[in-house]
Amino acid sequence: MADGSSASLCCFMFLGVFGFVSAGQKIVSGQNVTLPCRAKNKISIVAVNWRRADLGEKYVLYYQDGHFVKDNQHPSFKNRVDLQDRQMKDGNVSLILKNVTINDTGTYECQVAQREPNQEIADLQIISTSELRVVPPGQTGGSVGLKVSVPVFGLLFVVAVGFAV
Ligand SMILES: *[C@@H]1O[C@H](CO)[C@@H](O)[C@H](O)[C@H]1NC(C)=O
Ligand SMILES: *[C@@H]1O[C@H](CO)[C@@H](O)[C@H](O)[C@H]1NC(C)=O
Ligand SMILES: *[C@@H]1O[C@H](CO)[C@@H](O)[C@H](O)[C@H]1NC(C)=O
Ligand SMILES: *[C@@H]1O[C@H](CO)[C@@H](O)[C@H](O)[C@H]1NC(C)=O
Repeated sequence: MADGSSASLCCFMFLGVFGFVSAGQKIVSGQNVTLPCRAKNKISIVAVNWRRADLGEKYVLYYQDGHFVKDNQHPSFKNRVDLQDRQMKDGNVSLILKNVTINDTGTYECQVAQREPNQEIADLQIISTSELRVVPPGQTGGSVGLKVSVPVFGLLFVVAVGFAV
């Protein structure tokens, strides 16, 4: 029981802080989703590369030196992706993926190149990965119920600890 509660608390905080697409969460096709990613604050971002390993060299979204580079973008993402915050304030490079289809299911990798003041070059480094699972309408299973119940368990856990102390 205790393990279950603390796991819920962890996920509650996780969702609360980031509004994440968490591992295993099912998204119904046709929706717009945000895949969160946040780079180190206050270090200038030179490039952002969102990719999915199974697409090889073709990227989901690539940004460099103030521009979105579309040359080698995988065609299925054309006109469907954007950065949530184009200013990338506070290192926020979260990806918006619009009108998802079942073919968007996969593991998305967020890579960012940041140039420290004393550095000549900046390499792309993996900041985070997000799993996305898209299902056809009517196959959501219990995911909506799970989203609702997680905060409740998290709060119960906090309350229980409060009484125990
Ligand atoms: C997705 O975003 C587009 C515009 O960016 C909007 O027109 C559309 O209604 C959104 N779709 C959903 C399901 O929210
Ligand atoms: C990114 O910015 C958007 C819009 O300002 C905000 O809603 C979101 O929580 C931010 N995400 C992260 C990971 O900082
Ligand atoms: C969303 O995608 C579906 C299937 O790819 C397409 O039929 C539909 O027109 C798209 N909707 C929008 C608003 O782009
Ligand atoms: C998914 O990809 C397959 C194979 O490329 C294609 O036949 C199918 O139309 C795609 N489905 C959607 C919903 O885009």
